[in-house]
Amino acid sequence: MRIDIITLLPELLESPFSASIVQRAQERQKVHIHLHDLREYGENKYRQVDDYPYGGGPGMVLMVGPIDRCIQDLKAERTYDEVIYMTPDGARLDQKMANDCSLLNNLIILCGHYKGVDHRVRDHLITKEISIGDFVLSGGELAAAVFCDSIIRLIPGVLGDESSALSDTFQDNLLAPPIYTRPAEYKGWKVPDILASGNTPAIEDWRMEKAMERTQKLRPDLLE
Ligand code: ADE
Repeated sequence: MRIDIITLLPELLESPFSASIVQRAQERQKVHIHLHDLREYGENKYRQVDDYPYGGGPGMVLMVGPIDRCIQDLKAERTYDEVIYMTPDGARLDQKMANDCSLLNNLIILCGHYKGVDHRVRDHLITKEISIGDFVLSGGELAAAVFCDSIIRLIPGVLGDESSALSDTFQDNLLAPPIYTRPAEYKGWKVPDILASGNTPAIEDWRMEKAMERTQKLRPDLLE
């Protein structure tokens, strides 16, 4: 998978991609992440990328020209499956969307800033709009980092234990069951006996029962 991220703040995206599973995915050549500084496509000697909104109102708007030039440069090199815009009014990211997007080969992600982007970008250049939740961040970078993390860990060969993504919370619309490690007892707090029983089918039944219980209690909407 190749991910091209267009941003005004590339430095904000460096650390989320330089640690843990996402870093390992890059080392294993499972994903190639390229950051593009929108400022380099800015207009005039000030490399302007934003301007006042037509019709008045607060805030600045990212201009269509710099974004278009950056996207066209990328598209001249390869074809893209999706051109994604991170925005609070996009479709809500969930595990199903992450699963679907983890199958893509080439994607562009545009991070918004200020009041947003000139709507012509959304009408003519963007193919998918994604929100990470009903709250407003200062820009799309942290949302892009969240989205990328959620899809990269699902690329085959990225997680050490292939089955571990399958047992994640939300796969199968269930919350994950409780999990424990040694010691078997700490301050009188005990690990359920069944987990040390060695009876694998009984453990699987217990895990399923607990997953159902937790989902029923904490996220009954997932069972509907
Ligand atoms: N940009 C600002 N807020 C956002 C959100 N909640 N999701 C995606 N992109 C955003």
